[in-house]
Amino acid sequence: MLQGKRILLIVAGGIAAFKALELIRRLRERGAAVRCILTEAGARFVTPLSLQALSEDRVYTDMFSLTDESEMGHIQLSRDADLLVVVPATANILARMAGGLADDLAATVLLATDKPVLAAPAMNVRMWTHAATVANVEILKTRGVTFVGPNDGAMACNEHGPGRMSEPEEIVAAIESMLATNRPLAGKRALVTSGPTREAIDPVRYISNHSSGKQGHAIATALARLGAEVTLVSGPVAVVDPPGVRTIHVDSADQMLAACLAAGAVDIAVCAAAVADWKVTAPSGAKIKKKVGAQPPPLELSPNPDILATLSKPGPRRPALVVGFAAETENLVANAIDKRVRKGCDWIVANDVSPAIGTFGGERNTVHLISTVGVENWPTLTKGEVAGRLAARMALHLAGPRSAAAAE
Ligand code: C5P
Repeated sequence: MLQGKRILLIVAGGIAAFKALELIRRLRERGAAVRCILTEAGARFVTPLSLQALSEDRVYTDMFSLTDESEMGHIQLSRDADLLVVVPATANILARMAGGLADDLAATVLLATDKPVLAAPAMNVRMWTHAATVANVEILKTRGVTFVGPNDGAMACNEHGPGRMSEPEEIVAAIESMLATNRPLAGKRALVTSGPTREAIDPVRYISNHSSGKQGHAIATALARLGAEVTLVSGPVAVVDPPGVRTIHVDSADQMLAACLAAGAVDIAVCAAAVADWKVTAPSGAKIKKKVGAQPPPLELSPNPDILATLSKPGPRRPALVVGFAAETENLVANAIDKRVRKGCDWIVANDVSPAIGTFGGERNTVHLISTVGVENWPTLTKGEVAGRLAARMALHLAGPRSAAAAE
């Protein structure tokens, strides 16, 4: 049920806009209040009158008609909603969202909102698979936009393939899952490390690794979705800060450890960062000069602090659940089992980072969950799916042995 939920529906210009009418009907049947923004192109496909009749609310179309004090401002439109839903999410509106444009009311509201956003794409199959759309969708996913569909099938343009907008009932299901009041981690605090660390050689050079931060950031997002208050300590990454998460940016392993300790007591700690094992013992304060004909300078390295092992140490401040990662290229599970014991953490998520697998920087991950109980082999999933599944397992674990056992 969606009793009392407020949905702001953004209807853009595509043939699938007609499905927005059925969507409104179904949302209202479930008790949701629906308010619509109709883009200029959207109005070529459905009329404001139809949306207004079904939503029983005013339809907003023009940004400049909102400047009147008595009108609803664009910030207020988003403030009054629990969720924004873009139907159909055309290639054009996705590009405008990814580019941060604010060239009409719909785009402005989408840029100004801090509410969750669901997009239901619909477009010609070649537009959907075009590199520009693929990149835009990727950007929006990393910013926390949730996508439902598109489905495979026949399209209005007489072509076949992915691009058909999801059916209203599928969109309703996605909305219900996003607005689930079941937030099992509400009141819990979580700490997540993510990304690589950079260890300075001198002010311009450093030692680092290929970690993208995608998996760690996805875990922070998933924990926040389940209601946890999340602190993410991130090394230098290209991915954006997850919405609804307090993100602290650091460079080196020493800084990462200090930020983790400063985060205070937490219930869950997930160390997904690829922390550099070594740092340069005495980084140069000035750029080291290259001297023609001279030997390259020796680099003396010393070990970095082990953040996971530090957080796993028994004591009153130890989180109830500490989860580490094991990125290996050989003997994955055996090494990970050993690592769990050595580090003193509760679970290890083991993943194969052989270059051929493409985990580093890629979208998918094949992991094994290693706990005191044994080893679970998970199927290949997107990093978001791995994060969602892991967060759900953490919630069950914290809920107590009975719930965890029921889920096994
Ligand atoms: O020892 P190794 O780097 O293989 O261990 C990986 C796990 O330990 C990951 O969870 C990583 O985040 C964590 N780690 C850490 N601090 C280090 C090294 C690794 O937190 N200095």
